[in-house]
Amino acid sequence: MAPTSPAARRSGRRHPLATAALLVVGLLATGGAYALATTSATAETTAASEQLVEEGGKLFAANCASCHGLQAAGTEAGPSLIGVGALAVDFQVGTGRMPMAASGPQAEVKPVQFTQEQIDAMAAWVAELAPGPAVPPERYLAGDGDAAIGAELFRINCAMCHNVAGAGGALTEGKYAPGLAGVDPVHIYGAMATGPQNMPVFNDLNLTPEEKNDIITYLKYVEENPSVGGFDLGSLGPVSEGLFIWIFGLGGLIAVTIWLTAKSN
Ligand code: HEC
Ligand code: HEC
Repeated sequence: MAPTSPAARRSGRRHPLATAALLVVGLLATGGAYALATTSATAETTAASEQLVEEGGKLFAANCASCHGLQAAGTEAGPSLIGVGALAVDFQVGTGRMPMAASGPQAEVKPVQFTQEQIDAMAAWVAELAPGPAVPPERYLAGDGDAAIGAELFRINCAMCHNVAGAGGALTEGKYAPGLAGVDPVHIYGAMATGPQNMPVFNDLNLTPEEKNDIITYLKYVEENPSVGGFDLGSLGPVSEGLFIWIFGLGGLIAVTIWLTAKSN
């Protein structure tokens, strides 16, 4: 008889289907255990999030529905919020813009009227209506990105409205792009991803979450290092620099002329 190979010997001792059967039993056992563990975990989280959504619905009915409608479909006093996402609510309510107090060209930034928990609840309720931008994970808000890349992206995408140093600027029809110092990273992200009012939406294709973090990094850098040296003249660029030259440069020349003519007399 020819020497049997190790494989043949093994298959001689065990039925070929045994391995497969063992595998199936093993998979079923781990799968079952996993399913059990996760269903009890998801059951808990669904219960918690259902409660959050319910709470948010009540808060919304009491504070927002007068303008946005009971189902957030919009009224004459406020736009539809279907599909704006949790992030838009977090931005608008978290910066004190909403609930809007008086109609005007632009929702005013006021002291925040809700706790973060209440804001999260209303955000969850609005997000249930239709999918939209969600609050991003912490890692995109850390401000630990590349400030140099952020500065470049800011100059290209934001400086025309907010000014190179993020000091803000006027727009048409009584609207303005606010100064960006002291704005919470999640609200910087929220503004970019949801585009309030005249601000464009920068979705993940325009600016990836990493690039948004770079911009946050740059804005926080500017905040901590306001001016590289000398007077920043409000960082308003050529206008204030021109004015400076106009007043002090020309003023100086005039003074010298007066002094010279006075002397020659
Ligand atoms: C007095 C009316 C009024 C009330 C009350 C009000 N809003 Fe608004 N809301 C507006 C108007 C008008 C706009 C659009 C103009 C703007 O964005 O400045 C708006 C815009 C928004 C947006 C931005 C929509 C988008 O397309 O990004 C969100 C989100 C929002 N509101 C949420 C809320 C929430 C949540 C509440 C309750 C806490 C609330 N609002 C209360 C009038 C109101
Ligand atoms: C076309 C002009 C325009 C451009 C471009 C623009 N913004 Fe804005 N931005 C606005 C306006 C207008 C508002 C105020 C909206 C409001 O109050 O509802 C605003 C609001 C903001 C806010 C909220 C500030 C606060 O006080 O709560 C942040 C943060 C912000 N913008 C960041 C950015 C960044 C970052 C970029 C570039 C990626 C950018 N914006 C590009 C016009 C612009």
